[in-house]
Amino acid sequence: MTPVTLWVWAACAGTVLLGAAVADLPPPERHYDILILLPMSSTSHRNIFMPVAEALAERGHKVVMLINHPLESRNPNITLVFHGLDDFRPENISMFRIRKDVQEASRIYYEMFEAVSRKFYKVPKVKRLYERRKEFDLIIVFHMMNEIAYPFVHGRPYITITTVGVDATQSAALGNVLNPAYVSNFVFPFPQPLSFYHRFLNLLLQIGIACYWKSMAMSGVQKELSSQFPDFPSLVEIERNQSLTLMNSHFSLDTPLPLLPSQVEIGGMHCRPGNPLPQDLESWISGAGAAGVVYFSLGSTNQGVTLPAHYRDILLEAFRRIDQRVLWKTVGEVDGVPENVLVRKWVPQQDVLAHPNVKVFISHAGLLSTQEAAYHATPVLALPIMADQPRNAANIKGAGFGLALEWEEITVDLVLETLRDLIDNPRYKASAEEISGAMRDQPVSPKDRAVFWTEYVIRHQGARKLRCPAADLSWVEFLMLDVLAALLLAVCVSFVLLKRLGRAVCRAVCRDESKEKRD
Ligand SMILES: *[C@@H]1O[C@H](CO)[C@@H](O)[C@H](O)[C@H]1NC(C)=O
Ligand SMILES: *[C@@H]1O[C@H](CO)[C@@H](O)[C@H](O)[C@H]1NC(C)=O
Ligand SMILES: *[C@@H]1O[C@H](CO)[C@@H](O)[C@H](O)[C@H]1NC(C)=O
Repeated sequence: MTPVTLWVWAACAGTVLLGAAVADLPPPERHYDILILLPMSSTSHRNIFMPVAEALAERGHKVVMLINHPLESRNPNITLVFHGLDDFRPENISMFRIRKDVQEASRIYYEMFEAVSRKFYKVPKVKRLYERRKEFDLIIVFHMMNEIAYPFVHGRPYITITTVGVDATQSAALGNVLNPAYVSNFVFPFPQPLSFYHRFLNLLLQIGIACYWKSMAMSGVQKELSSQFPDFPSLVEIERNQSLTLMNSHFSLDTPLPLLPSQVEIGGMHCRPGNPLPQDLESWISGAGAAGVVYFSLGSTNQGVTLPAHYRDILLEAFRRIDQRVLWKTVGEVDGVPENVLVRKWVPQQDVLAHPNVKVFISHAGLLSTQEAAYHATPVLALPIMADQPRNAANIKGAGFGLALEWEEITVDLVLETLRDLIDNPRYKASAEEISGAMRDQPVSPKDRAVFWTEYVIRHQGARKLRCPAADLSWVEFLMLDVLAALLLAVCVSFVLLKRLGRAVCRAVCRDESKEKRD
């Protein structure tokens, strides 16, 4: 070995060791008892919470998790408590039916919130857990739609997980009011930079949605909880008391933003290198040859079942005509499937995306799928349905690792043309590699970041030092309207005084002059 190669080798080994040392957190002082509350969630929400629960359990902490879905964990340090109320069933809602009907969607969710909040604290398991709440070192709550869990966290240190990544309303609760001049509301993405019209709309939406949520959507829950718990404060007051939030975002995949130390990005935490596929799937994907495979999945919220027949026929016809094989993940039954299409109820998605022969991912652009596609550098054809999906689709397109289509505009030719562009034009794959590199290039893994900050809040008894003073201000104080009003008043008073003074001086001078003239 020459001295130079030896030096290079030593430097590389040093980097690897340094990387490992930074990434490995020192062991915790003791095991903590952590309560995770997810009384109303869909599969994708659970898929964000479970990695956090598992990471904490692997550190030796004892995690108790209250959920609305019977689940099991292989980790003995996680105890799952299924509350058994089945009023909140996002799987039963046809996303295609409500995607353009905001009123219908709000009505359905509103009814579910009310129904659950009436019964929740009467469930013996929930009641027992509620009575034990002070035994836990920390409580973790879903940042939205789970206000019924607030009696647990009232007066206790707690943190939230922001499943949708950046949510302006949630950010404001922590004291970070994001500027609507460039931060789109997460359900209504506008192209960057925002035009005058879009800034105008965005401001109204930002205010309108926050007001609607606090005063309308949550009014039933507030009334119900106030009647069950005497001296229960407003939900807003409790929401503002959260110590920290773990946000399912990463700036490489979204708008880079000024964040508080209490807003910790853990986006892509669930992403991991691909494992070998089951033998049958491996040989089917490799068997596609150089043409490769298109992977199609509309996520976990059963959208496959409710995919309208008209859209399904267009997609199937496009699949029939392409040279690639198509792997379609759906829990629904599909008839008339062409020979090159394989339908599966479940596939190990990350292992599929990591496979070098998978060329394109046709996705509803759910946040987790978007992160997985980016991490595994697979170009995306986004077909967003609702909620934050249009924003994710816009981010995919903006980052250059995919294209987006509206369901209403798709035709067989358009789907074919878009897929061919994504497969034949190397720039999509190159952008995907670039974003994958940016996502993986972090001093500490998102998982270690989540664990560190969760333990930090416990070590520092709620970590009040992280609290931004803006979280305690009213909007009049925050916008300094009182100070501006005082300034305006001072200007007006000075103006009036100056005018009077001027007049008095003028009169005095005039009087002197006339006196001089008379003399
Ligand atoms: C569970 O916690 C203990 C310590 O409390 C730890 O030693 C063990 O590794 C944890 N188990 C798993 C599977 O993470
Ligand atoms: C919701 O779907 C489940 C199956 O996923 C079904 O058993 C249940 O009856 C449905 N509930 C409602 C209210 O439609
Ligand atoms: C806010 O948090 C502090 C410290 O954890 C606690 O003393 C206080 O009671 C909390 N307030 C509410 C409304 O939960």
